[in-house]
Amino acid sequence: MPDSELPDLPVSRGRVLVIDDEADIREGLETLLDLEGFTVQTAENATEGLKKFEAGIYDLVLLDLMMPDRSGLEVLDDIRKRDSETPVFLITAYGSIEVAVEALKSGANDYFSKPWDNEKLLIEIERQMARTRLERENRELRRALKQRYSFPNIVGKSERMLRVLDLVSQVAPSKSNILITGETGTGKELIAKAIHANSPRADQPFVGVNSGSLPPDLLESTLFGHVKGAFTGAVANRKGYFETANRGTIFFDEIGTLTADMQVKLLRVLQEREFMPVGSTETIKVDVRILAATNAELVKMVEEGRFRQDLYYRLNVINIPLPALRDRKEDIPLLTEHFFQVYCRENEKYLDPQGRSLLRFENEAMHILMDYNWPGNVRELENAVERAVVLSTSDTVPVSVLPEHVLHSTGVRLPRESGEVLPADASLFEVVADFEAKRIVEVLEAVNYSQTDAATRLKIPLSTLNQKIKRLGIVVKRKTASN
Ligand SMILES: Nc1ncnc2c1ncn2[C@@H]1O[C@H](COP(=O)(O)OP(=O)(O)OP(=O)(O)O)[C@@H](O)[C@H]1O
Ligand SMILES: [Mg+2]
Repeated sequence: MPDSELPDLPVSRGRVLVIDDEADIREGLETLLDLEGFTVQTAENATEGLKKFEAGIYDLVLLDLMMPDRSGLEVLDDIRKRDSETPVFLITAYGSIEVAVEALKSGANDYFSKPWDNEKLLIEIERQMARTRLERENRELRRALKQRYSFPNIVGKSERMLRVLDLVSQVAPSKSNILITGETGTGKELIAKAIHANSPRADQPFVGVNSGSLPPDLLESTLFGHVKGAFTGAVANRKGYFETANRGTIFFDEIGTLTADMQVKLLRVLQEREFMPVGSTETIKVDVRILAATNAELVKMVEEGRFRQDLYYRLNVINIPLPALRDRKEDIPLLTEHFFQVYCRENEKYLDPQGRSLLRFENEAMHILMDYNWPGNVRELENAVERAVVLSTSDTVPVSVLPEHVLHSTGVRLPRESGEVLPADASLFEVVADFEAKRIVEVLEAVNYSQTDAATRLKIPLSTLNQKIKRLGIVVKRKTASN
């Protein structure tokens, strides 16, 4: 049969190396993993196992603790000397806390005692692989960016975000004024700091001003300083932000909130590079780079005469527009993982011995996060993850821990067309797939779209159901978010 007629076979879900001296166990694991779509290699003793480990690339190793030639802990030690990253699960004939502790200390990622629950093992393999993948992606991303510029706390691999970072690295070295635009929570302040940190001014001050949060008269003396006696309460000379930021960067957040009067004063500084403190008759010269941010429609404000056009052009020499999170959803898993790391550390919860977060959202919850449209963007996601870290009582965060409004607004997703009739010349593969899809949709509907319940009813592991749903293109809808 020519290639074009082959059905789309699912790609391998990962490569697993099984090292165990007992043939029954080896074969059992091989069958189980193979059925689940993993690629499996086996070795019947420690020496062969290490040889295979060195020769191949694996996503996970299942390692027996007791083998005639060497102990699993010794093998683990050898594996870790060669590779600190590939996850290893130890399996052993008897469960004892001491061995478990020893295994985890020696760098194993998990521990199973015979007889184990196959479903639990599969779930753990899957989540461990997902975690390793995300860690690797995050690390590679950071490494790639570091080579050019350093954005240590900016996470994102989407095309749109990479373009933003490219633009940032291009404009950072210059002295040009930059206007950063974007919805609330898209990272405008973060980007402003990154521009400063990657500029020749990085060692000089970065001063942030939120023009909206200060009354206009106070804003003027805050920015330009004042001399003693300039107004009631001015008991001494005081430096303003512009002077503090000299040779560095000043960042005007929410620039759209500047009053007409302050717009004139700021324009003057931009043109003359000098200003006068309140109550003073002497001008002060400064060398300051100006960044500004707005989530308001500044162009519209200019059209309506609420923002000076000349000031707008001065500020907007270069525009960096930040994408909304809903337009770069592929960054959601990375950002989630990043915030898990941050908040697990902060809360000292669910950390492995290396201090890395073990927390993850259960699949359903992750689907919801991907579905939601994030009006508050990254900040809203960050808050949802922080909340999940604080409220979770196990290392798998359930749907119920998501904020109410997130649950309610992720609406219904439709199942694939159920009235569709297969063409008469459909292949056996298509007929089987169609039958499977229909049955799965039927059961999902019967259990109100709980995938866990559906898996139980269909008598297949949850992970298999997830995989089938993806492969068959079934879209799972949720009637009520809290099912
Ligand atoms: N790409 C990103 N990677 C990691 N964290 C991010 C990213 N973008 C935003 N954040 C985080 O999200 C939060 C909000 O970002 P920031 O304050 O920069 O947004 P903003 O656009 O200035 O929002 P606002 O308009 O409401 O002031 C911060 O905690 C920030 O660290
Ligand atoms: Mg901000």
